[in-house]
Amino acid sequence: MKGLVLAGGSGTRLRPITSTSAKQLVPVANKPILFYGLESLAESGIREVGIIVGDTAEEVSAAVGDGKRWGLDVTYLPQAAPLGLAHCVLVARDFLGGDDFVMYLGDNLLTQGIDGFVEAFETERGSARAAGRQPPVAQILLARVPDPHRFGVAELDASGRVVRLVEKPVDPPSDLALVGVYLFDSTIHQAVAAIRPSARGELEITDAIQWLLENGHRVNSQVVQGYWKDLGQREALLEGNRLVLESVEPRVEGLVDAESRLEGRVVVEQGARIVRSVVRGPAIVGEGSVVEDSFVGPFTSIYRDCRIVRSEIEHSVVMASATIVDIGRLVDSLIGNRVTVARNEQRPKALRLMLGDHSRVDLA
Ligand code: DAU
Repeated sequence: MKGLVLAGGSGTRLRPITSTSAKQLVPVANKPILFYGLESLAESGIREVGIIVGDTAEEVSAAVGDGKRWGLDVTYLPQAAPLGLAHCVLVARDFLGGDDFVMYLGDNLLTQGIDGFVEAFETERGSARAAGRQPPVAQILLARVPDPHRFGVAELDASGRVVRLVEKPVDPPSDLALVGVYLFDSTIHQAVAAIRPSARGELEITDAIQWLLENGHRVNSQVVQGYWKDLGQREALLEGNRLVLESVEPRVEGLVDAESRLEGRVVVEQGARIVRSVVRGPAIVGEGSVVEDSFVGPFTSIYRDCRIVRSEIEHSVVMASATIVDIGRLVDSLIGNRVTVARNEQRPKALRLMLGDHSRVDLA
């Protein structure tokens, strides 16, 4: 069994954070989203992983490297343009050969591992063959969501069998969304070769699986047990961050001075310094970051090499090398790499902004 991880595409929904950088590398509890997927593939026993990369190929390969740190053997598969999830399977054709594979979307976060998912597929295929029944050629993972029109949606019959799949339907047939983890055998290659681009101009994996169903193949499904989030939007990212932080093991590897206090589940990574400040967990302060005369509140991740000075920050994600000085209280925020947010008390009360395209500022 191989792994195919999708880390190409364009992250329009997290713009401007991902206009210039890979959305799969946005940190959740100070770890790129993509790494959770890679860990999960490694834990399920998979060794050979192909990663689909697009415009942000360099950044992704710099972060992931050869995969050895997870015991993986990583091959990068460049995709010239984001032409769809099924197009990624076409791009990976030679890498995959005739093997079964797990396809994992690099912007999906699952708190449960995928071992049970992989095991169920293999067991079911084995026992179906032994009993002379038709083995499943694919297995999908589903989750109940309040907004199914944003996803691929599955329709099941009374016995729980998948009968139909539709991508982002205006009128969803159920509230069961397709989670971004799929299992396929080599039959999927016939399907992706047969389908045509959708209305949004992409070769949809949802249509390829629908093709399997229409051509008499069996597709199994499982409903996700743990937490799942497609981290394409700010609220989802903050929520994912909150959930992962709730279970991180507290540890202090950096410096906390005598005038500072850590409360609850707090991680202070190596080289970080907490000076005359309070950090109330769950929270994490990353490598080389400095928190001075500040309050870092619950559900906040400060990534590496940041400076937080005379400010309060809560329920937020701050990415690498950001500077936040004298800004009072910041909540529910997503602050990108190398961003500066500062107040200059010398000047009359006015806002001076330099914001990238698609930025959003909520003033209270
Ligand atoms: O998150 C689950 C949903 O993912 C499913 O419910 C949908 O059925 C499925 O189509 C997909 O929907 P999205 O529209 O959210 O997919 P997105 O364009 O965000 O791409 C998912 C990941 O795949 C993301 O990490 C980028 C990567 N990608 C995407 C495309 C279109 C590629 O690497 N190449 C591509 O061509």
